Amino acid sequence: AHHFHVEPQEVAFASDGAFGRFDRQQLQRGFQVYKEVCAACHSLRHVAFRDLTELGFTAPEVKAIAKNWAIEVPSVNPDTGEPATRKAIPSDMFPSPYANEVAARAANNNALPPDLSLMTKAREGHAEYVHGLLTGYRKAPADLPAEARPGPGLYYNPVYANLNIAMPPPLVAEGQVSYADGTKPTVDQMAQDVSAFLIWTAEPKLENRKRTGVAVILFLLLATTLAYFAYQNIWADKK
Ligand code: HEM
Repeated sequence: AHHFHVEPQEVAFASDGAFGRFDRQQLQRGFQVYKEVCAACHSLRHVAFRDLTELGFTAPEVKAIAKNWAIEVPSVNPDTGEPATRKAIPSDMFPSPYANEVAARAANNNALPPDLSLMTKAREGHAEYVHGLLTGYRKAPADLPAEARPGPGLYYNPVYANLNIAMPPPLVAEGQVSYADGTKPTVDQMAQDVSAFLIWTAEPKLENRKRTGVAVILFLLLATTLAYFAYQNIWADKK
């Protein structure tokens, strides 16, 4: 069914290119999408709540955000048999909403929602893939062979490698989140913002890397220029 596969469309992110920098307003919006939509199923186990200060949140704001997540503690509630939990604190990582893999699969048609921390690095297409996946859900085309049709609990998405994915379309309506900065929350905008946020979770030090790269190139240009003039100077009287 290869000819049904669709490549994600190109998206420009502020962090692209040698001079790329994060758009912190956008990262905050993307975090909001993660928090209000994706976090119902996906963890960010390489990201701590306190890392959010890098997006411009204050320490008290981070504390208040963390409180909305529950962290399992190594004991069992004697009354219910459920794992005991406490409220998250800033040094915790964004946990999975499920107690374990069995519970996660039970809630998702036997599929496992993967951790999203490194997702933009893990998939070919990177953040454009995530954006393309979120905006790529379609009705299965009429000429799709029977064996490639979405079975029960699967959704047709030609950006996904095997066309049918167990994740229900998470972003379906404009205004699903409401942005405090006045940005219009279209599905495409929310998909771009959460993808930008996931670029940050996968590489929070991206700006340092790019700054260093630019400095290295400038230094090499300077060193090459100096070497050239030194060469001319040294051989000047040897013609
Ligand atoms: C898989 C992103 C919301 C359930 C995935 C994948 C990504 C992703 C990138 C991996 C696709 C791949 O393997 O190539 C997101 C984002 C969300 C979101 C950015 C919020 C905007 C949700 C929600 C649920 C969910 C709310 C549960 C209702 C799943 C499941 C999978 C998955 C079950 C595994 C799919 C499979 O193996 O077929 N998601 N997700 N996701 N997601 Fe989400």
